[in-house]
This record gives sequence, C-alpha cells and structure tokens, in this order.
Amino acid sequence: MKKKGLILSLTVASSILLATGCSSSTSGSGDSASGKDSKLPAVGATIYKFDDNFMSYVRRAMETSAKGKVNLMLNDSQNDQAKQIEQVDTLIAKGAKSLAINLVDPKAAQTIVDKAKAKDIPVIFFNKEPDESVLNGYDKAYYVGTTSSESGVLQGELIAKAWEANKDKWDKNHDGKLQYVLLKGEPGHPDAEARTKYAVDTIKSKGIQVEQLAMDTAMWDATKATEKMDAWVSKYSDKIEFVIANNDGMALGAIASLEKAGYFSGDKFVPVVGVDAIPEALEMIEKGKMVGTILNDAKNQGKATVDLAANAANGKDVLDGTEWKLDDKKAVRVPYVEITKDNIQVGKDAYK
Ligand code: GAL
Ligand code: CA
Repeated sequence: MKKKGLILSLTVASSILLATGCSSSTSGSGDSASGKDSKLPAVGATIYKFDDNFMSYVRRAMETSAKGKVNLMLNDSQNDQAKQIEQVDTLIAKGAKSLAINLVDPKAAQTIVDKAKAKDIPVIFFNKEPDESVLNGYDKAYYVGTTSSESGVLQGELIAKAWEANKDKWDKNHDGKLQYVLLKGEPGHPDAEARTKYAVDTIKSKGIQVEQLAMDTAMWDATKATEKMDAWVSKYSDKIEFVIANNDGMALGAIASLEKAGYFSGDKFVPVVGVDAIPEALEMIEKGKMVGTILNDAKNQGKATVDLAANAANGKDVLDGTEWKLDDKKAVRVPYVEITKDNIQVGKDAYK
C-alpha cells in the first residue's frame, strides 16, 4: 500500500515537472532539459520552430552534443521573428557566451549580429543561411549548414535517372515530357529557392523535357502539402507524372493525399521524391511509395553547430579540436547524399 502511494506521488510530481518543462520551452525563455549545469559555459540557442520535422532531429543532435560540454539554453521561436529577437535579448542578458541561431526570417540576421557584436558575443547561424554580407560584417559570425544548390542538383539527378529507367510506364500521356507538380518550402528560404531551381534545371540538363503543371509553397509542412495535393489531384489527376517536394515532410503530405485518391494500390502509381531522409520517408521508400530522397544530415549539422558554439563560448578558435572545415564564406557545409532503396541504410544510420 505504502509503495503504491509513493509511486502515485512520484507520477504526479513527474507530470508536474513535465508540464513546467514543457511550458518553459514553449514560452521561449526556459533552458532546455539538456543543460542547467551553471559551471558549464552558457550557449544561447534558438530554433525557428520546434514543430518542424527536420529541425526536431537537428535539435535532438544539439542536445546530445551539448551534454557535459555547455549549458545549452534552447528556445522555440515559434515561427515568430519578433519573438526570436526578444529571446536573443534575454539570452544575452542571461549571460550567453555564444549564440547558435536558426533564424525565422533569413533577413533578420543583421539585427541579431548587431546585438551580438555590441557585446562581443560570437554567433553561429545554422540551417537558414544569412546573406554573405552579414557574415562578412562581423568576424565572430559563422554559418553551419549545407550547400543548398547541392540538394537540388542531387534531387534532379535522382529524378532523371528514375525517369529514364521507367518512362515506359511513367510517361502516362506518351508525349516524351515529364509533367510535374512541385511543392515548395518557405519562399525566400535559400534551401527552398535553390532546390526548386536546381532540381528542374538538372532534369533539363539531362536532356529530359519537362512541363510544370503546378507549383506552390506548402511551407515545409505535411498538412499544407496534403491540402495542395488534394486540389492538384482533383484538377489534373493522371496528368501528374511526378511529384517533386522540397522536403520529405511535404512529400509525406502528398503521399497521404495520393493514397486517398487510390494511388499506391493496384497499378495506380505516381513517383514522389523529397529531401531530408527523415525516418518516415525512409519507410515510404522501403514500401515503394517514394522513389527516393536526399539526405540532409541533421545529426552532423546539430553536432557542428554545438561544436563551434562551444569553442566560441570558451574563447577558442571555433574549429579547435574538431574536424570541421570553414569555406571562404565562414561556413561549415555538411554534404547531402542521394538515398534510394539501394542505399537506404545510409539514411537510417544518419538518423539513428
Ligand atoms: C531545410 C529542411 C526542411 C526544413 C527547413 C527549415 O533544410 O530540408 O525540412 O526543416 O530546413 O529551415
Ligand atoms: Ca508525359
């Protein structure tokens, strides 16, 4: 009996803890669970919104890398740039020795650099690349991410290869052209712009004629992608010969819509590709509902961000003791990798 009472009170206590933990991270001013050790140097961090599929993996990698190394004060900016600026003020006031910033709006980078520069605090931007001029204007500003265009080129190559191998079946109207719909990420986001341009340019450069039936943003979001795809499926139905998505979240949303319309059963099929290689997308590839994706290495981007921010917080050279390299734009760029059924394990290992 006594034991039961103890377990019960522990459960109540831990749910209270959980509840307060939750509210502090969503209110945007709390420390993350990964670090409250005041002896460690404080790193102030923001994620543009926690409710983003890919970023949740980057966040997890950051929390893992921070353990025992820095006190990571991690904030959810809830897709609100004004809120993020306030969070940066608070982080500086709380004594952050360096900042790791995933911008809401890439154009807000200068405002954040101005605040950091005034206090001589280094800033590591990650995932959303600021303009070159902003990084050039402050010797303690860096970027961790990818080469955005690379994901578009690799996705275009993947599409071209798959199309050449299957066009007897996939060119439904037999006009020799690839009719596609494209789900775009956030407009103005360097990844969304580059993926859209380079995927299509690369398909064309392989000598394949294309025709765009529709293109619209679904803001990286699965639910929004399902809505867009519902409309396109009812308008174009079997005229759609390829679904190109700027990320896996939207590819998954498109698949949900296509399934409702009877695709992926019997011989009703349309090829879908994405970017990121999140576990849910890898599952779809294994089930044959997705042709492939491009690995966006969340683990290494999260790790590199914390490695640089930790060094900066300790007053060291940002690359000290690491294997990362900076390019001539003061950026660490983690490579993308093409993923299909053939090398699916590469994707799985990256998200372990
Ligand atoms: C991209 C990623 C998207 C989304 C976006 C957020 O690199 O592919 O899924 O997370 O970053 O900025
Ligand atoms: Ca066609």
